[in-house]
Amino acid sequence: MARSSSDLHGRRWWRSSAARILAGVASVAATAAVLVTAPGADAAASTLGAAAAQSGRYFGTAIAGGRLGDSAYTTIAAREFNMVTAENEMKPDATEPNQNQFNFSAGDQIYNWAVSRGLRVRGHTLAWHAQQPGWMQNMNGSALRSAMINHIQKVMAHYQGKLAHWDVVNEAFNEDGSRRSSNLQGTGNDWIEVAFRTARAADPSVKLCYNDYNIDNWNYGKTQGVYNMVRDFKARGVPIDCVGLQAHFTGGSSVPSNFQTTISSFAALGVDVALTEVDVTNASTAQYTALTQACLNVARCVGITVWGVRDSDSWRSSESPLLFDGNGNKKAAYNSVLNALNAGSPTTTPTTPTNPTTPTTPTTPTTPGGGGCTATLSAGQAWSDRYNLNVSVSGSSTWTVTMTVPSPARISATWNINGTWPSSQVLVAKPNGNGSNWGVTIQHNGNWNWPSVSCSTS
Ligand code: G3I
Repeated sequence: MARSSSDLHGRRWWRSSAARILAGVASVAATAAVLVTAPGADAAASTLGAAAAQSGRYFGTAIAGGRLGDSAYTTIAAREFNMVTAENEMKPDATEPNQNQFNFSAGDQIYNWAVSRGLRVRGHTLAWHAQQPGWMQNMNGSALRSAMINHIQKVMAHYQGKLAHWDVVNEAFNEDGSRRSSNLQGTGNDWIEVAFRTARAADPSVKLCYNDYNIDNWNYGKTQGVYNMVRDFKARGVPIDCVGLQAHFTGGSSVPSNFQTTISSFAALGVDVALTEVDVTNASTAQYTALTQACLNVARCVGITVWGVRDSDSWRSSESPLLFDGNGNKKAAYNSVLNALNAGSPTTTPTTPTNPTTPTTPTTPTTPGGGGCTATLSAGQAWSDRYNLNVSVSGSSTWTVTMTVPSPARISATWNINGTWPSSQVLVAKPNGNGSNWGVTIQHNGNWNWPSVSCSTS
């Protein structure tokens, strides 16, 4: 298959970046274990996530917490994908089962599973007419408005600085483009913008998305309704960063011929676009290829998420709509998508950082904290856009580690700590009861320098 010059440029950047990582790490930490998952010299990438990463995109899946004990499931998920959406575990009925009593255990289980494997996480979802806890279903008016605001604030505070995107509002439109009638809509037509303004204040570091289904056909009333809302939000400065097209091409719908027009039209408003819940009846190779290509053809289409791993995991399993069969075998559609991604073009040209920095670490990567503890950093896995660091704390079991990443890098994920976030560049980590080995994922944004750390007992 022919490759564009920009594609080749991206591959060269991958190789040179990998070399920089290895060189830098070797110079500072002989014991560090480094895996670099760049595609080979001229080889196509062999997983969906790696193939998508060549053009700066992600390829994700919905993960069901109840399946994390299934090793066939987790093996495929960890190998193929580099973005995760909790299928149900971060929805309002899961996170706030009783009013103002929050439960993040199921959401955290998926979050921790993902980030410990270097996968990023999309939050789904904060304000929705469905999957509300019983107490919320029975609310209306100003009490519900206040409850919605409180829910957004508290859930986003818990995940502050940790997620790539949040679906702030989900499925708020009717098929004709008017607003869906719901208890949330009953609180006033401004409820969606209030949700987005609340979300921005709660976590300025995460991209805020509106997410919906049946907004794939550019000529459809619902598509136009959502488009007009996003255009209005952008014109009035209501904070919105992205639109999620769920892209459920099941239940009788299929990829429209103008799908790319829809994606590019939203993107032209100045928002990212993502395909967030993809499934296709009988996993039509033609439709999977078309939807993948449509995303690849629009620079601001940042990634694709399929709504489950194997057909047997799908909410519409009778339509066999996913990329792996019930036995975990790759289907024909898998190869179609992989091939399209491998031939894809970068989201931006050039993709290389304008002033690449040779990776270095602090000259003293171990920090004798003075307060009786030491935090030692070692390299974890690295990707084109991010890398993991493992942290081991010794000397005390009641430590506090403060980590500061150099701008414009930022910490995007952590595992096995209780973390607080004075800013997206600073993490304050304390033990979560599971020992003293933990880690961070750092979006380098062109700066590969490792963070500084200090350790104190408390
Ligand atoms: O966990 C309970 C289980 O304890 C109980 O025995 C069983 C009996 O019905 O229900 C289980 O919960 C189900 C849950 O999925 C987990 O399997 C719920 O009934 C069921 O309603 C729920 O369905 C989810 C659906 O959203 C609810 O709206 C699907 O898994 C999930 O895939 C689906 O996802 C939505 C997106 O969030 C938004 N876009 C559409 C998409 C598909 O409907």
